[in-house]
Amino acid sequence: MKILAIETSCDETAIALLEGRTGLLKLEQNLIYSQIAIHQKYGGVVPELAARKHAETIVPLLSEALGKDRLKKVDYLAVTAGPGLITSLLSGITMAKTLAYVNNKPLCGINHIEGHIYSNWLSNKELVRAPKKYFPALILIVSGGHTELVFMRGHGRYQLLGQTLDDAAGECFDKVAKLLSLGYPGGPIISQLAAKGNSRAYYFPRPMISSRDYNFSFAGLKTAVLYTLEKKRKIYRKDLADLCASFQQAVIEVLVAKTIKASQVYKVKAVLVGGGVAANKHLLASLQQACQKEKKPFFYPQIRSTGDNAAMIAVAAYYGLVSKRARVLKGREVFGIKPNPNWQLTKNKL
Ligand code: KG4
Ligand code: ZN
Repeated sequence: MKILAIETSCDETAIALLEGRTGLLKLEQNLIYSQIAIHQKYGGVVPELAARKHAETIVPLLSEALGKDRLKKVDYLAVTAGPGLITSLLSGITMAKTLAYVNNKPLCGINHIEGHIYSNWLSNKELVRAPKKYFPALILIVSGGHTELVFMRGHGRYQLLGQTLDDAAGECFDKVAKLLSLGYPGGPIISQLAAKGNSRAYYFPRPMISSRDYNFSFAGLKTAVLYTLEKKRKIYRKDLADLCASFQQAVIEVLVAKTIKASQVYKVKAVLVGGGVAANKHLLASLQQACQKEKKPFFYPQIRSTGDNAAMIAVAAYYGLVSKRARVLKGREVFGIKPNPNWQLTKNKL
Protein backbone atom coordinates (compact mmCIF):
# COMPACT_ATOMS: atom_id res chain seq x y z
CA MET A 1 0.00 0.00 0.00
CA LYS A 2 1.50 3.32 -1.08
CA ILE A 3 0.51 6.49 0.79
CA LEU A 4 1.26 10.12 -0.01
CA ALA A 5 1.01 12.28 3.12
CA ILE A 6 0.88 16.05 3.53
CA GLU A 7 1.55 17.88 6.82
CA THR A 8 1.17 21.66 7.22
CA SER A 9 -0.27 22.04 10.72
CA CYS A 10 2.18 24.68 11.95
CA ASP A 11 5.40 26.03 10.42
CA GLU A 12 6.74 23.03 8.51
CA THR A 13 5.62 22.14 5.01
CA ALA A 14 6.14 18.40 4.70
CA ILE A 15 5.44 15.68 2.13
CA ALA A 16 6.15 11.96 2.47
CA LEU A 17 5.71 8.86 0.37
CA LEU A 18 5.46 5.61 2.30
CA GLU A 19 5.08 2.00 1.26
CA GLY A 20 3.55 -0.14 3.96
CA ARG A 21 3.35 -3.95 4.05
CA THR A 22 2.78 -6.39 6.89
CA GLY A 23 5.84 -6.08 9.09
CA LEU A 24 7.57 -3.53 6.87
CA LEU A 25 7.46 0.24 6.42
CA LYS A 26 9.50 1.75 3.60
CA LEU A 27 9.89 5.50 3.46
CA GLU A 28 10.44 6.50 -0.16
CA GLN A 29 10.33 10.28 0.30
CA ASN A 30 10.40 12.49 3.37
CA LEU A 31 10.67 16.17 2.49
CA ILE A 32 10.45 18.92 5.08
CA TYR A 33 10.66 22.63 4.44
CA SER A 34 11.13 24.33 7.79
CA GLN A 35 10.09 27.95 8.25
CA ILE A 36 12.03 28.45 11.50
CA ALA A 37 14.31 31.08 9.93
CA ILE A 38 11.25 33.15 8.98
CA HIS A 39 9.57 33.08 12.40
CA GLN A 40 12.73 33.32 14.51
CA LYS A 41 12.87 37.09 14.38
CA TYR A 42 9.34 37.33 15.79
CA GLY A 43 10.08 34.95 18.67
CA GLY A 44 7.28 32.56 17.64
CA VAL A 45 5.16 31.37 14.72
CA VAL A 46 3.24 34.14 12.91
CA PRO A 47 0.18 32.32 11.47
CA GLU A 48 -0.30 34.64 8.47
CA LEU A 49 3.33 34.27 7.40
CA ALA A 50 3.22 30.50 7.94
CA ALA A 51 0.17 30.12 5.68
CA ARG A 52 1.71 32.26 2.94
CA LYS A 53 4.92 30.23 3.00
CA HIS A 54 2.99 26.92 2.89
CA ALA A 55 1.17 28.18 -0.22
CA GLU A 56 4.49 29.00 -1.88
CA THR A 57 6.27 25.80 -0.93
CA ILE A 58 3.74 23.03 -1.23
CA VAL A 59 3.63 22.66 -5.04
CA PRO A 60 7.42 22.55 -5.60
CA LEU A 61 7.75 20.12 -2.70
CA LEU A 62 5.02 17.87 -4.12
CA SER A 63 6.57 17.76 -7.57
CA GLU A 64 9.93 16.92 -6.02
CA ALA A 65 8.39 14.08 -4.01
CA LEU A 66 6.34 12.61 -6.84
CA GLY A 67 8.74 13.04 -9.74
CA LYS A 68 7.58 12.06 -13.22
CA ASP A 69 5.29 9.30 -12.00
CA ARG A 70 3.00 11.83 -10.35
CA LEU A 71 0.31 10.04 -8.40
CA LYS A 72 0.19 6.91 -10.59
CA LYS A 73 1.49 4.49 -7.99
CA VAL A 74 -0.14 6.13 -4.96
CA ASP A 75 -3.05 4.17 -3.43
CA TYR A 76 -4.13 6.62 -0.71
CA LEU A 77 -3.63 10.25 0.24
CA ALA A 78 -3.40 11.38 3.85
CA VAL A 79 -3.41 14.88 5.29
CA THR A 80 -3.15 16.42 8.75
CA ALA A 81 -6.60 17.82 9.54
CA GLY A 82 -5.88 19.07 13.10
CA PRO A 83 -4.96 20.08 15.70
CA GLY A 84 -2.91 23.08 14.54
CA LEU A 85 -3.16 26.59 13.15
CA ILE A 86 -6.28 26.82 11.00
CA THR A 87 -4.65 28.85 8.21
CA SER A 88 -1.71 26.42 8.05
CA LEU A 89 -3.95 23.35 8.11
CA LEU A 90 -6.02 24.80 5.27
CA SER A 91 -3.03 24.88 2.88
CA GLY A 92 -2.38 21.15 3.19
CA ILE A 93 -6.04 20.17 3.25
CA THR A 94 -6.91 22.19 0.15
CA MET A 95 -4.00 20.64 -1.74
CA ALA A 96 -4.89 17.12 -0.58
CA LYS A 97 -8.58 17.46 -1.49
CA THR A 98 -7.75 18.82 -4.93
CA LEU A 99 -5.21 16.07 -5.65
CA ALA A 100 -7.56 13.37 -4.39
CA TYR A 101 -10.58 14.60 -6.34
CA VAL A 102 -8.81 15.28 -9.64
CA ASN A 103 -6.93 11.97 -9.57
CA ASN A 104 -9.78 9.96 -8.07
CA LYS A 105 -7.77 8.73 -5.07
CA PRO A 106 -9.13 8.03 -1.59
CA LEU A 107 -8.19 10.51 1.17
CA CYS A 108 -7.86 10.20 4.97
CA GLY A 109 -7.76 13.12 7.42
CA ILE A 110 -5.20 12.35 10.13
CA ASN A 111 -4.80 13.73 13.65
CA HIS A 112 -1.42 15.42 14.13
CA ILE A 113 -0.97 13.97 17.63
CA GLU A 114 -1.63 10.49 16.25
CA GLY A 115 1.20 11.25 13.81
CA HIS A 116 3.55 12.02 16.71
CA ILE A 117 2.58 8.69 18.31
CA TYR A 118 3.33 6.79 15.09
CA SER A 119 6.73 8.48 14.65
CA ASN A 120 7.77 5.66 16.98
CA TRP A 121 6.87 3.06 14.35
CA LEU A 122 9.13 4.87 11.87
CA SER A 123 12.12 4.54 14.15
CA ASN A 124 11.60 1.17 15.87
CA LYS A 125 11.41 -1.93 13.64
CA GLU A 126 10.48 -3.94 16.72
CA LEU A 127 7.10 -2.15 16.92
CA VAL A 128 6.44 -2.84 13.22
CA ARG A 129 7.41 -6.52 13.43
CA ALA A 130 5.56 -7.43 16.60
CA PRO A 131 2.57 -5.09 16.69
CA LYS A 132 0.59 -6.84 19.43
CA LYS A 133 3.47 -7.50 21.80
CA TYR A 134 3.58 -3.91 23.05
CA PHE A 135 -0.13 -3.16 23.46
CA PRO A 136 -1.55 -1.77 25.64
CA ALA A 137 1.04 0.99 25.56
CA LEU A 138 1.38 4.34 27.28
CA ILE A 139 2.35 7.36 25.20
CA LEU A 140 3.76 10.60 26.56
CA ILE A 141 3.09 13.36 24.02
CA VAL A 142 5.31 16.39 24.53
CA SER A 143 5.18 19.03 21.81
CA GLY A 144 4.94 22.79 21.43
CA GLY A 145 1.15 22.71 21.74
CA HIS A 146 0.41 19.52 23.69
CA THR A 147 1.41 17.58 26.77
CA GLU A 148 -0.69 14.45 27.15
CA LEU A 149 -0.59 10.96 28.56
CA VAL A 150 -2.44 8.61 26.23
CA PHE A 151 -3.36 4.98 26.91
CA MET A 152 -3.24 3.06 23.62
CA ARG A 153 -5.06 -0.28 23.59
CA GLY A 154 -4.26 -1.04 19.96
CA HIS A 155 -3.94 0.68 16.61
CA GLY A 156 -6.23 3.73 16.59
CA ARG A 157 -7.65 2.98 20.06
CA TYR A 158 -6.84 5.79 22.47
CA GLN A 159 -7.86 6.99 25.90
CA LEU A 160 -6.69 10.35 27.19
CA LEU A 161 -5.42 9.89 30.77
CA GLY A 162 -4.32 13.46 31.39
CA GLN A 163 -3.07 16.65 29.81
CA THR A 164 -1.67 20.05 30.65
CA LEU A 165 -4.05 22.47 32.27
CA ASP A 166 -2.16 25.48 30.90
CA ASP A 167 1.15 25.61 28.97
CA ALA A 168 2.52 22.61 27.07
CA ALA A 169 6.03 21.38 27.93
CA GLY A 170 7.53 22.69 24.66
CA GLU A 171 5.70 25.99 25.06
CA CYS A 172 7.24 26.32 28.53
CA PHE A 173 10.74 25.73 27.10
CA ASP A 174 10.01 28.40 24.46
CA LYS A 175 8.69 30.93 26.99
CA VAL A 176 11.57 30.44 29.42
CA ALA A 177 14.02 30.84 26.51
CA LYS A 178 12.29 34.13 25.71
CA LEU A 179 12.65 35.28 29.34
CA LEU A 180 16.36 34.49 29.08
CA SER A 181 16.59 36.18 25.63
CA LEU A 182 17.89 32.98 24.09
CA GLY A 183 15.89 32.93 20.85
CA TYR A 184 13.29 30.65 19.23
CA PRO A 185 12.56 27.76 19.38
CA GLY A 186 13.71 27.57 22.97
CA GLY A 187 13.83 23.81 23.54
CA PRO A 188 17.00 23.01 21.59
CA ILE A 189 18.84 26.09 22.94
CA ILE A 190 17.88 25.44 26.57
CA SER A 191 18.80 21.75 26.37
CA GLN A 192 22.22 22.59 24.91
CA LEU A 193 22.97 25.12 27.64
CA ALA A 194 21.55 22.80 30.31
CA ALA A 195 24.11 20.14 29.38
CA LYS A 196 26.83 22.50 30.73
CA GLY A 197 24.95 23.56 33.87
CA ASN A 198 24.24 22.30 37.38
CA SER A 199 20.63 21.14 37.71
CA ARG A 200 20.75 21.67 41.49
CA ALA A 201 21.96 25.27 41.38
CA TYR A 202 18.40 26.64 41.58
CA TYR A 203 15.30 25.09 43.02
CA PHE A 204 12.18 25.35 40.87
CA PRO A 205 8.80 23.84 41.77
CA ARG A 206 7.68 20.48 40.32
CA PRO A 207 4.06 21.45 39.60
CA MET A 208 1.42 18.76 40.26
CA ILE A 209 4.06 16.06 40.70
CA SER A 210 2.05 14.45 43.52
CA SER A 211 -1.47 15.21 42.27
CA ARG A 212 -3.71 12.16 42.07
CA ASP A 213 -4.41 12.62 38.38
CA TYR A 214 -2.35 12.53 35.19
CA ASN A 215 -2.60 16.23 34.42
CA PHE A 216 0.25 18.71 34.17
CA SER A 217 0.73 22.43 34.71
CA PHE A 218 3.80 24.31 33.54
CA ALA A 219 2.73 27.98 33.64
CA GLY A 220 3.78 28.40 37.32
CA LEU A 221 7.22 27.01 36.57
CA LYS A 222 7.75 29.70 33.95
CA THR A 223 6.70 32.34 36.53
CA ALA A 224 9.11 30.85 39.08
CA VAL A 225 11.95 31.32 36.56
CA LEU A 226 10.79 34.91 36.01
CA TYR A 227 10.85 35.67 39.78
CA THR A 228 14.35 34.18 40.09
CA LEU A 229 15.54 36.37 37.22
CA GLU A 230 14.01 39.48 38.75
CA LYS A 231 15.99 38.89 41.95
CA LYS A 232 19.29 38.70 40.07
CA ARG A 233 21.18 41.83 39.11
CA LYS A 234 23.34 40.32 36.41
CA ILE A 235 23.22 36.99 34.65
CA TYR A 236 26.54 35.44 33.73
CA ARG A 237 26.98 32.65 31.15
CA LYS A 238 27.45 30.12 33.97
CA ASP A 239 24.19 31.31 35.64
CA LEU A 240 22.43 30.85 32.34
CA ALA A 241 23.57 27.23 32.05
CA ASP A 242 22.59 26.56 35.69
CA LEU A 243 19.19 28.20 35.24
CA CYS A 244 18.54 26.13 32.10
CA ALA A 245 19.67 22.89 33.76
CA SER A 246 17.57 23.53 36.88
CA PHE A 247 14.48 24.47 34.87
CA GLN A 248 14.85 21.49 32.52
CA GLN A 249 15.29 19.16 35.50
CA ALA A 250 12.01 20.37 37.01
CA VAL A 251 10.07 19.75 33.77
CA ILE A 252 11.63 16.33 33.27
CA GLU A 253 11.02 15.13 36.83
CA VAL A 254 7.30 15.90 36.52
CA LEU A 255 7.01 14.25 33.09
CA VAL A 256 8.84 11.12 34.23
CA ALA A 257 6.99 10.78 37.55
CA LYS A 258 3.54 11.02 35.95
CA THR A 259 4.47 8.71 33.08
CA ILE A 260 5.79 6.01 35.42
CA LYS A 261 2.76 6.29 37.71
CA ALA A 262 0.38 5.86 34.75
CA SER A 263 2.43 2.95 33.39
CA GLN A 264 2.08 1.14 36.74
CA VAL A 265 -1.61 1.83 37.27
CA TYR A 266 -2.59 0.94 33.70
CA LYS A 267 -0.20 -2.05 33.57
CA VAL A 268 1.05 -1.16 30.11
CA LYS A 269 3.47 -3.37 28.18
CA ALA A 270 5.54 -0.48 26.80
CA VAL A 271 6.13 3.24 27.21
CA LEU A 272 6.51 5.52 24.17
CA VAL A 273 7.25 9.21 23.80
CA GLY A 274 6.54 11.54 20.88
CA GLY A 275 6.55 15.22 19.86
CA GLY A 276 9.19 17.93 19.49
CA VAL A 277 10.34 17.76 23.13
CA ALA A 278 11.21 14.07 22.60
CA ALA A 279 14.39 15.48 20.98
CA ASN A 280 15.57 16.29 24.51
CA LYS A 281 18.34 13.81 25.32
CA HIS A 282 18.07 14.30 29.07
CA LEU A 283 14.34 13.55 28.97
CA LEU A 284 14.99 10.40 26.94
CA ALA A 285 17.76 9.24 29.29
CA SER A 286 15.56 9.85 32.37
CA LEU A 287 12.58 8.01 30.86
CA GLN A 288 14.84 5.17 29.72
CA GLN A 289 16.28 4.77 33.20
CA ALA A 290 12.89 4.92 34.93
CA CYS A 291 11.37 2.38 32.50
CA GLN A 292 14.33 0.06 32.97
CA LYS A 293 13.64 0.06 36.70
CA GLU A 294 10.03 -0.88 35.95
CA LYS A 295 11.24 -3.54 33.47
CA LYS A 296 9.15 -1.97 30.73
CA PRO A 297 10.36 -1.48 27.15
CA PHE A 298 10.77 2.18 26.26
CA PHE A 299 10.56 3.46 22.68
CA TYR A 300 11.32 6.88 21.25
CA PRO A 301 11.55 8.33 17.75
CA GLN A 302 14.88 9.15 16.12
CA ILE A 303 15.66 12.83 16.53
CA ARG A 304 14.82 13.63 12.90
CA SER A 305 11.28 12.27 13.41
CA THR A 306 10.53 14.13 16.65
CA GLY A 307 9.61 17.44 15.00
CA ASP A 308 6.73 17.87 12.58
CA ASN A 309 7.01 15.72 9.45
CA ALA A 310 4.71 14.00 6.98
CA ALA A 311 6.26 10.53 7.33
CA MET A 312 4.58 10.11 10.73
CA ILE A 313 1.25 11.15 9.17
CA ALA A 314 1.70 8.50 6.46
CA VAL A 315 2.43 5.82 9.10
CA ALA A 316 -0.63 6.84 11.15
CA ALA A 317 -2.72 6.58 7.97
CA TYR A 318 -1.25 3.17 7.14
CA TYR A 319 -2.18 1.69 10.53
CA GLY A 320 -5.54 3.43 10.42
CA LEU A 321 -6.21 1.76 7.06
CA VAL A 322 -5.03 -1.73 7.98
CA SER A 323 -6.93 -1.68 11.29
CA LYS A 324 -9.96 -0.27 9.39
CA ARG A 325 -10.26 2.56 11.90
CA ALA A 326 -9.39 5.37 9.51
CA ARG A 327 -12.22 7.21 7.78
CA VAL A 328 -11.60 6.93 4.05
CA LEU A 329 -13.28 9.47 1.78
CA LYS A 330 -13.70 9.12 -1.98
CA GLY A 331 -14.90 11.26 -4.91
CA ARG A 332 -16.91 14.30 -3.81
CA GLU A 333 -16.81 13.09 -0.19
CA VAL A 334 -13.24 14.44 0.10
CA PHE A 335 -14.63 17.97 0.23
CA GLY A 336 -16.11 17.03 3.60
CA ILE A 337 -12.69 17.16 5.27
CA LYS A 338 -12.39 20.41 7.19
CA PRO A 339 -9.54 21.69 9.35
CA ASN A 340 -10.15 21.18 13.05
CA PRO A 341 -7.67 23.34 15.01
CA ASN A 342 -8.67 21.71 18.32
CA TRP A 343 -9.22 18.12 17.20
CA GLN A 344 -8.79 15.89 20.23
CA LEU A 345 -7.25 12.53 19.49
CA THR A 346 -9.69 10.66 21.69
CA LYS A 347 -12.70 12.20 19.99
CA ASN A 348 -11.93 10.26 16.89
CA LYS A 349 -14.08 11.93 14.25
CA LEU A 350 -13.23 14.99 12.20
O1 KG4 B 1 6.11 18.65 17.80
P1 KG4 B 1 6.68 19.97 17.46
O2 KG4 B 1 7.74 20.05 16.38
O3 KG4 B 1 5.56 20.98 17.05
C1 KG4 B 1 4.27 20.92 17.61
O4 KG4 B 1 3.48 20.07 17.18
O5 KG4 B 1 4.07 21.70 18.57
O6 KG4 B 1 7.28 20.56 18.81
C2 KG4 B 1 7.95 21.78 18.87
C3 KG4 B 1 8.39 22.02 20.32
C4 KG4 B 1 8.93 23.44 20.54
O7 KG4 B 1 8.27 23.98 21.66
C5 KG4 B 1 10.42 23.21 20.81
O8 KG4 B 1 10.99 24.18 21.67
C6 KG4 B 1 10.40 21.84 21.45
O9 KG4 B 1 9.45 21.12 20.68
N1 KG4 B 1 11.73 21.19 21.40
C7 KG4 B 1 12.44 20.85 22.50
C8 KG4 B 1 13.67 20.32 22.03
N2 KG4 B 1 13.65 20.34 20.66
C9 KG4 B 1 12.45 20.87 20.29
N3 KG4 B 1 12.15 20.97 23.80
C10 KG4 B 1 13.09 20.55 24.68
N4 KG4 B 1 14.28 20.04 24.33
C11 KG4 B 1 14.62 19.90 23.02
N5 KG4 B 1 15.81 19.40 22.68
ZN1 ZN C 1 3.83 18.52 16.22
